Order: sequence, then structure tokens, then C-alpha cells
Amino acid sequence: MLVLIRDDYETMSREAARRVATVVRRKPNCVLGFATGSTPLGLYRELIRMHREEGLDFSKVTTFNLDEYVGLPPEHDQSYHYFMWENLFSHINVDRRFVHIPHGMAEDVEGFCAWYERRIAEAGGIDVQILGIGANGHIAFNEPSSSLGSRTRIKPLAGTTREANARFFASPDEVPTHAITMGVGTIMEARKLLLLASGDAKADAIARTVEGPISAMVPASIVQLHRDAVVLLDSAAAAGLTLHYPE
Ligand code: F6R
Repeated sequence: MLVLIRDDYETMSREAARRVATVVRRKPNCVLGFATGSTPLGLYRELIRMHREEGLDFSKVTTFNLDEYVGLPPEHDQSYHYFMWENLFSHINVDRRFVHIPHGMAEDVEGFCAWYERRIAEAGGIDVQILGIGANGHIAFNEPSSSLGSRTRIKPLAGTTREANARFFASPDEVPTHAITMGVGTIMEARKLLLLASGDAKADAIARTVEGPISAMVPASIVQLHRDAVVLLDSAAAAGLTLHYPE
């Protein structure tokens, strides 16, 4: 696990984009795993800039998103479909046919989740998976106590996650109670992991992820077992770390 600490959010985001762009340039038909939430927005802005100004080409890239709220249609402005098109996909030359986001309105959820896993395998696996982290240590919507071997499935959201995400909804009651999420086992099969965290609200979760024991109570801590994981932080998110990590 490589821990990289940058002074601020913008520098962290540019470093993340540089790493994603390297993969895209080396392998134009690569498979990228995307996350939603506030943390990767700077990374997405930088990828858009690189597409516009440097011709970074996404036309052959396949994408898989980590998760989606159950019960929100793709056109709902808080759905993760909407988020991805609004904040990234509409601004780059990604081919709509190669974009995959879990379907929050799937009638046969189990069948859908099995199909999603098959599609990832058929695409050749994920080359680089971008991850955020919850203040409770979740990755995707694998909340504390999720099986570390889990696959794509439906999961209830933790009360604290619903509270954290209520900021985007008109009222806290409107926050969905469940999500379809890639499992921890699914995420661990990606060839590279790029876990981003910014701000002091994440400092405790990062300290437990990087320097604590591997535990289902902190699902992100499983990245310690990954062969090519980069944990990319701004200085506020790194504040709880006790070891010295080289630049
Ligand atoms: C979103 C996701 C979540 C977020 C996490 C952090 O696709 O998988 O695990 O990464 O909740 O969210 P932010 O970045 O909004 O703090």
C-alpha cells in the first residue's frame, strides 16, 4: 500500500487524475471503476480538462460504477447515474454503450447483481478502481460488518451514511434506505485501487484503514491486502496517521 499525502484537495485531485490518465494512455481500452460523492469531483474536473486540453481519449474506455441508490430512477437528480453524467460522462468522449452503473430500479435485483459481476468479468476486470471512504470506514456502500469477501448485492445504508448524505436531499426521509453496491471482494479484484480522502472528517477512518487492523468493522482496511493500492490523501485527512510517509 502506497500512502501519498498532498497539501490540499486540488493537488490531491491532480495527482489522482495524473494516475488515471497514465492508465488510459497506456491502455486506451482500459476498464475504469468510478465512485460518486464529493471526494472525486476534483479528479473528474481534472480529467475533463485533460480531455479538452490534452486530448485524453476515453472513446474505448469501459466504465463500472461502484453503487447506486435503490428506488431512484436514472433521471432523478440525486441518483448516481445523474451524478456521473452531470459531473463527468457528458463532458468527455466516453461511449454510452460502455458505461455501467448499477440499476436502482431493477426488478430482479439478484439477477441484476449477478449480471453486473458477469459484465465486469467479460470486460476483462477493472484496471483501476477509484474509491472514496465513509467517515465510518465504508467503501462503496459496504458498511461496517460487511463481509470482506462480498460480491455485488443490495445492502441497507447505515444510519450515519443516510445522515451524511441527507445534505443532498430535500428532507432526510427522502434518502434511500438501500443501495446496490459492488462487494468488497469485487473491489479487491481490481488491478489497481486508488482510494481518495480529503478533510478532517475522514482523518479517523483513514487512520483506522491504514494503520489499524484489517477488520470488517472498517471495510476500507482490506486495502492493506491489495497488491497495488494507493491511498491518496490531503493533509487534513492524513492528520490521524502516526508513521512518516515519504512524499
Ligand atoms: C460513492 C461511494 C461512497 C463514497 C463515500 C464518501 O460511490 O461509494 O463510498 O465514496 O461515502 O463520500 P464523499 O466523497 O461524499 O465524502
